[in-house]
Amino acid sequence: MQGQYRPLWLNENSALEVLDQRYLPHEKRVRVLKSGADAIEAISDMTVRGAGVIGNVAAMGVYLLAREFGDDKKRIREEAMKLRASRPTAVNLMWAVDRMLNVIEKSDDVLADAKAEAIAICDEDVKRSEAIGKIGCNIIEKIMEEKKLEKINILTHCNAGWLAIIDSGTALAPIYEAHKRGIDMHVWVDETRPRNQGANLTSWELSDAGIDHTIIADNTGGHLMQHDMVDMVITGADRVTRCGDAANKIGTYLKALAANDNGIPFYIALPLSTFDPESCNGVEEIEIEMRSEDEIHIMRGIDKEGKAQELRITPIGSKGANYGFDVTPARLITGLITEEGIIEPNETAIREIIL
Ligand code: MRU
Repeated sequence: MQGQYRPLWLNENSALEVLDQRYLPHEKRVRVLKSGADAIEAISDMTVRGAGVIGNVAAMGVYLLAREFGDDKKRIREEAMKLRASRPTAVNLMWAVDRMLNVIEKSDDVLADAKAEAIAICDEDVKRSEAIGKIGCNIIEKIMEEKKLEKINILTHCNAGWLAIIDSGTALAPIYEAHKRGIDMHVWVDETRPRNQGANLTSWELSDAGIDHTIIADNTGGHLMQHDMVDMVITGADRVTRCGDAANKIGTYLKALAANDNGIPFYIALPLSTFDPESCNGVEEIEIEMRSEDEIHIMRGIDKEGKAQELRITPIGSKGANYGFDVTPARLITGLITEEGIIEPNETAIREIIL
């Protein structure tokens, strides 16, 4: 485990507890989820976020539905469909709900089987994340060797650490492994407006782990790349098509373009559960979440006394458009770091692994 917590766990009463990510890095607040409706709310309001953890909470949410509705499989399915729709882009959500419903469909002991399956999904993520760390770290070492680097500068976007997939993340897993292996490294952390997952969460994780990092405004990466200050980029993903296009937090595409223009390796790290075999052209086929424009207008933080504050930074009356994700086309991706190894971002290579 990288941090002192997991992002979610079952308490002694078998209710789900989650670390409320909306209050980090300033406050470690725990929220108890007792019902399927609680799980839907926690995913939609971003108490929990990040593709892997959304999938975990959705799986646990189906288990909570089994606690509420007992053997009533029809009711569980109806409510689970609402859970499945609580955010549109991260495919791990749909994957986890479908897997839970398949188990429930065949079960003679719905409650016990739902609990066991939800726990299994979480435990599998621990193994996936560990494997992604080792495989991704080998790439870090290879790049250092090729470029004859004594120290490597890695840029990442959003948060794809242990808050996003237990226990080490996807994009951050190779970074944690490199830290373990004693590799000299510095991480550029995109702040990731408007919700600031980089500034709030990735920086918090890296500080906790004692990993050298610097938070930068989102538009800084291109400049750094032009001045040889970034050796590689690693991000996570919310959905990767069978042809290798990757949806991730808004702004990822621009980093990939800048990396491509400057000949910098651009990797996406993901568990196999983030592949969407149904889609190919990500730009046309992946639904991009639209979030409240308030997230553009209002900054949240704490004042000098440590009191939570919200500040409007835009003129009253100006419109805001809050696109949650964008799609990086496969041609801009150097490789996909998965628990099964590095996959080339093309249909033939991906089909071999996932279909
Ligand atoms: O809106 P969020 O915070 O859920 O978006 C998260 C990301 O974009 C992550 O990079 C992605 O989920 C990969 S984390 C395993």
